[in-house]
Amino acid sequence: MSKSFKRTLVTTALPYANGPVHLGHLAGVYLPADIYVRFKRLCGHEVIHIGGSDEHGVPITITADREGITPQDVVDRYHAMNADAFRRCGISFDYYGRTSSTRHHETAREFFLDIEQKGIFVRKSEKLFFDAKAGRFLSDRYVTGTCPICGSTEANGDQCEQCGSHLSPLELIDPKSKLSDAKPELRETLHWYFPLGRFQKQLEAYVEAHNESWRQNVVNYSRTWLNQGLADRAITRDLSWGISLPLDEEAANGKVLYVWFDAVLGYISFTREWAELQGDAERWKRYWQDPESRIVNFIGKDNVVFHTLMFPAILMAWNEGRTEGRYELADNVPASEFMNFEGRKFSKSRNYAVYLGEFLDRFPADTLRYSIAMNYPENKDSDFSWSDFQNRTNGELADTLGNFIKRSVDFTNSRFEGVVPAEISSEAWNSLGIDWPESIRRLSEAYEGFHFREAASLTMEIARFANRFLTEAEPWKTIKVDRQAAAHTMAVSLNLCHTLSLLFYPLIPETCNRIHGMLGFEETIDSLVQPGAAVWDRAALAGLEKGHRLKGSSEILFTKIEQKDLEPELEKIARLLADAERREAVAVQEKVTFKPEIGFEDFQKIDLRVARVLECEPVRKASKLLKMKLQVGAEERQVLSGIAEHYKPDEMVGKQVLLVANLAERTIRGELSQGMILAVEGVDGRLFVVEPQGDGIIGNPVE
Ligand code: 2FM
Ligand code: ZN
Repeated sequence: MSKSFKRTLVTTALPYANGPVHLGHLAGVYLPADIYVRFKRLCGHEVIHIGGSDEHGVPITITADREGITPQDVVDRYHAMNADAFRRCGISFDYYGRTSSTRHHETAREFFLDIEQKGIFVRKSEKLFFDAKAGRFLSDRYVTGTCPICGSTEANGDQCEQCGSHLSPLELIDPKSKLSDAKPELRETLHWYFPLGRFQKQLEAYVEAHNESWRQNVVNYSRTWLNQGLADRAITRDLSWGISLPLDEEAANGKVLYVWFDAVLGYISFTREWAELQGDAERWKRYWQDPESRIVNFIGKDNVVFHTLMFPAILMAWNEGRTEGRYELADNVPASEFMNFEGRKFSKSRNYAVYLGEFLDRFPADTLRYSIAMNYPENKDSDFSWSDFQNRTNGELADTLGNFIKRSVDFTNSRFEGVVPAEISSEAWNSLGIDWPESIRRLSEAYEGFHFREAASLTMEIARFANRFLTEAEPWKTIKVDRQAAAHTMAVSLNLCHTLSLLFYPLIPETCNRIHGMLGFEETIDSLVQPGAAVWDRAALAGLEKGHRLKGSSEILFTKIEQKDLEPELEKIARLLADAERREAVAVQEKVTFKPEIGFEDFQKIDLRVARVLECEPVRKASKLLKMKLQVGAEERQVLSGIAEHYKPDEMVGKQVLLVANLAERTIRGELSQGMILAVEGVDGRLFVVEPQGDGIIGNPVE
C-alpha cells in the first residue's frame, strides 16, 4: 500500500440468497475479509465491514417455481440462514443487508436514472423467446430443448448439462418453455445496454495503475477482457423479480435491472443503511466519497470482471460531469482462487458441499477458522480435507496452543496463588529468542498484503516457541530447588499467553477472548478494540505486571477430534462420492448416443497422425488457447488448441499427441491453425490431451 489512508471500507461479495453458504465461500471471501478487518480493528484503524445477500436473479425464481413458493419466501429463508451461519462463525459484519430493501432499490434506481439522463445507455431491440401462454419473456434458463451438439433432449437455454456446451436459446432444436411447455415464439423486445467500451481507456488506466498492488490473477483476468475490447452489456431483463426500471414509458414495463447491475450497488446502499443505523445518515460518504478512504472488495475469482470493470464503469458513468458527490473506486480487489473439498470442486447442484451452518452444528467455529486460514486459496486452488482439519485441531490448536495456555494458567493457579509471580524486565523479554519488533512487522505485512496463510503460520510458530519454552524450562522441577527461577518462567509464560491472545485474535477471536478472560481481564478483546486504540502493539510487550491476578480457573480451549467424531463425515463423503460416480456412470451411459454410421471410406478420409509438441506458448487476447509447434515426421505444423485452462505451456512441450492432420486450415485470433489435436473431457469439464505411447511413432498414421 503506497498511499496512506484514514479509514477502510471492506466489502464482501454478496452471496445469492438461493442456498446455504458452504466452506468454499467461507474460505474464499468471508473468512479472509473478517481476518483482515479484525486485524485492522486491533491496530486501532477505522474500518467497517459491509456485506449482505444478493436477492435477485433468475435462479431464485427457478427455486421458487420448483418449490411452489414466492421468490420472497426463498430469499427470506436463505438470508436468515446465511446471516446466522456467518454470525456463528464469528464473521463480524458491521452491517449485513439485503438487496430487496427499499433503500437498495432506491439507490439502484438513482444510478440507473442518472446514467439514463446523461444519455449513456444504448437502447437496442432484439428478438427473444416469449411464452404466449404464460405471457412472459423467457430468460435463457427458462428455455429447454434438444442440444444441437450432442442431441440431449434436456439442454438448457444457456448450457447443455450433458455435453457442457455453452448455448444460446436460439440454438436449441425444438425449444420449449419451462413455464408452460408451450413452444415459445420470438418477439421483439427493447433493452438498455451499458456501453462498457466508452470507458475502455479509463478502465485500462485504472487496472494498470494497480498492476503492482493487485494480485496477478486479478490483473490478468481484467487485462484479458480489456485486450479483447469491451462490448455493450445488456443491463435490463424481461422479468418480474428484481428492481423495476424507474421510467414512466411503455418500453420499460415488465423490465427489471440485470442482477449484476444492482448487486454491486448493494455495497453502497448497505453502507447507507449502516450509516442510518448509526444515527448519522451522511456517514456513508466518508467511505465512498472521500479520497482518503480506502475501499477493498473481497471476492472469489469468478467475480473479478464485475468488480474491476463493470462496477468501476458504473461509478465512472455516475462521476461523469460531477465535481461533487463523486465515488471512489476500490483500491484493492483481493480475489481468491477456489478451495476444493477432499480433492473435488464444491458443487451446490451436485450437493457436493459442506454447508457452514451444518459444520458449526458439529465443530467449534475457531477450529474451522484456523484450518481454513492455513488453507487459504491465495494464489492457487487449495483443498479442505477432514484429516487436515483433524490434524490441525489436535496437533496445532489443542497440543500446542491450548496445551501451553492451560499449563501456564494451571501451574500459576496451583503454585503461585493465581498471581503473576515475577516482574519481567524488557531485557529479559527481548532476549527470549524472539525478535518482537521483527515478528510483529512480518505479521503486519502478511495481513496488509492479504497473505493470511503466512500470517497464520507465523502466529502458530510463536505458539510453538512458547510451548517449547515452558517445556524446556521445566518449572515443575525447578520450583523444588529454585522458586524464584520457576516464578520467572511462569511470568514469562503468562506474558506469552497474553501476547498470543492478541496475535491470534484475527484468526480465532472467540478463543482469544476466553484466554483473555482466563488471564484475569474483565473485558473481552472485542471490547478493547476501537479506533485509535492500538491493541496490536501491546502484543510485542510483556504486558502483565508482577501481582496481576488471573481469573483463578482454567478451561479446555480445544477438544481433540477423535476418529469416531469424523466417521459420520467420512461416511457422508463416501456416499457423496459414490453418488457422483453413479451420476457420472449414468452420464457416461447416456453420453453413448453415437453419431450416425459412416462407411470405412469416410473414416479413411481422416488423416490421424502422431505428433510431438516442440514448442508451446499462450495466445494473446485468447485466454483459453495455446499455440503449439508440432513435429509430424519431417514436417512442422502450427496448431491452436483450447486447452490453456488445463495445461501450462511447459507441460505440453515434449508430449506425444494425436493430430487430425488433414483438417482445413483456419485462422483463429489472427493465428494460423493447421489441424487439431485430440483431447477428451473428464470430471468437472477438465480436458485431457490424448497421448499415444510408443517409441519411434512420431509422424506415423493411426489406423
Ligand atoms: O457470484 C455470486 O454469488 C454473486 N451473488 C456475487 C455478487 S457480488 C456483488 F456484486 F454483490
Ligand atoms: Zn449437449
